[in-house]
Amino acid sequence: MEITAAEFLVSNTDVTKCPSPNMPEFAFIGRSNVGKSSLINMVTQRKNLAKTSSTPGKTQTINHFLINSSWYLVDLPGYGYAAVSKTKKASWSQMIETYLRQRENLFCTFVLIDSRIEPQKNDIEFINWLGKQQIPLALVLTKGDKITQAELGKSKKNIEMRLLKDWEELPPIFITSSEKMRGREEILAFIEKAISQNHH
Ligand code: GTP
Ligand code: MG
Repeated sequence: MEITAAEFLVSNTDVTKCPSPNMPEFAFIGRSNVGKSSLINMVTQRKNLAKTSSTPGKTQTINHFLINSSWYLVDLPGYGYAAVSKTKKASWSQMIETYLRQRENLFCTFVLIDSRIEPQKNDIEFINWLGKQQIPLALVLTKGDKITQAELGKSKKNIEMRLLKDWEELPPIFITSSEKMRGREEILAFIEKAISQNHH
């Protein structure tokens, strides 16, 4: 799929104010600093569409982007960012959970995990929560440029083994690098297929 248009629509903390759920929607989520906003820019090939930062906790709202006038891409705040106050953490996770549970046009949630580190407890808890809610998910191993091909293979295997403790089936797993544009075609092909099958 080619990206012919990509525009920022709106930021929300109130899920009911998100754009009307009349088009297929795909969301990026994962721990703070894992590379969600960078991946939005890489996939859309728009350098500053989503705001990125080397400091964790940059994205604090639900951000809708309209792609090719026909589907939504959503940038979400990260979970598990230690420096955020307890109250703020609780309100973020409330917002994210409400969004994920109520968004009827959500075709797939891409859960981003840093390819260099073992999946953390909150990653696994979050993936398991999505599974229990029957929210379709795919995994994305990010920052693939920072380790070798062999280490990436090991990371992928490691996550698969961990997930198979709780689940019989594995979700699709993508390896990406926003720096090197790796994984772009695969993710776009997956999205295109999901839309064409009206699969959600
Ligand atoms: P929050 O909004 O804070 O939750 O973070 P985020 O998940 O949106 O991360 P963001 O895209 O802002 O990226 C965090 C940092 O990681 C930035 O310094 C990015 O430049 C860097 N980064 C993101 N993706 C990659 C990648 O694929 N390779 C490399 N080398 N760095 C990356
Ligand atoms: Mg972000």
